[in-house]
Amino acid sequence: MDVDGKPVLQFASNDYLGLSGDRRLIEAACRAVRLYGAGATGSRLLSGEREVHRELERALAGWKGCEDCLVFSSGYLANLGTIPALVGKRDLVVGDAYNHACLRGGAELSGATHRLYPHGDCSALERLLIEQRDRHRRCLICTDSVFSMDGDLVDLARIADLARRYGCMLLVDEAHATGVLGPTGAGAVEQLGLTRSLVQMGTLSKALGSQGGYVCGSAELVDYLRNRARGFVYTTGLAPATAAAALEAVHIARTETSRRALLRQNIARLRAGIDKIGIAQLPSAAAILCLRVGDIEATRRFAGELFDAGIFAPSIRPPTVPTSRIRLSLMATHSEAMIDSLIAALTKVSSRFS
Ligand SMILES: Cc1ncc(COP(=O)(O)O)c(C=O)c1O
Repeated sequence: MDVDGKPVLQFASNDYLGLSGDRRLIEAACRAVRLYGAGATGSRLLSGEREVHRELERALAGWKGCEDCLVFSSGYLANLGTIPALVGKRDLVVGDAYNHACLRGGAELSGATHRLYPHGDCSALERLLIEQRDRHRRCLICTDSVFSMDGDLVDLARIADLARRYGCMLLVDEAHATGVLGPTGAGAVEQLGLTRSLVQMGTLSKALGSQGGYVCGSAELVDYLRNRARGFVYTTGLAPATAAAALEAVHIARTETSRRALLRQNIARLRAGIDKIGIAQLPSAAAILCLRVGDIEATRRFAGELFDAGIFAPSIRPPTVPTSRIRLSLMATHSEAMIDSLIAALTKVSSRFS
């Protein structure tokens, strides 16, 4: 891509499968614009419902192994709408300390007691449940599956077991796992073979290359949210073009397994290159790789020097994250030569930082 006239290689995009610019998505969006016009023009509950919305919801539900699905105008709005519909003042929300801002925002908006446990610490989660569960009516556990600023995978099987034992609902945010993990790319829930009834949330804006968010689950849950989630009821429906592009993307992500294989190859190639250079990496299980290169100032300079070397990979620093890092995200459409250019740039820049 081009930044202010300088050509750089993009290593910061969430477009993990490289679908955003895919000809088939673009054509699907154009057909939908011609058929439906540019906008949905109203709430889905009033005048904004189009057949493409339900087609997309059926496709997502089938992919995720759920009875039904509800599509929101963004992933952010999906969490902000869903959590307050499920819990209120007499309830408890328990979440990982590194959860995405919209999971935290949804919990705060709900008025429920909101407790965070240290990142990835399931023993601390259980201690919280022992201490707090009985004092509340309902309990909702919320977690990212793949964490957005680290790239690591949560121990979802253990959390699902805790949810079952302590009588809690479990909402899993699959924003960075959808399209990337699992045999058909349905996410971490598919990869782990979880069957317990879950609230599976995600976004259409990352590996699916479009825009919007969704919640998949039981027919009863989806019917309830359709009428109770304020972020669905009181906002204009997703634009038909973005819904149509996302529908095409679900089909491609599900069936073109070669894309996921290419992504995995790229991840392995980069990881091997970084290991060889000896830069410390944070644990990662998906397409996000984070490098520790020093304190806030060093990390900022490192990103600047990478940019000068033709690589776009931002530094992520406190307060967004507890410790500074360079966050790299990989795409199926990166070529081996692009990955090698990144490795060469990292080798050059890191030699000046040791
Ligand atoms: C984990 C996680 N959840 C939710 C979202 C929000 O999704 P959207 O960009 O569709 O609003 C994001 C995106 O930034 C995310 O990283």
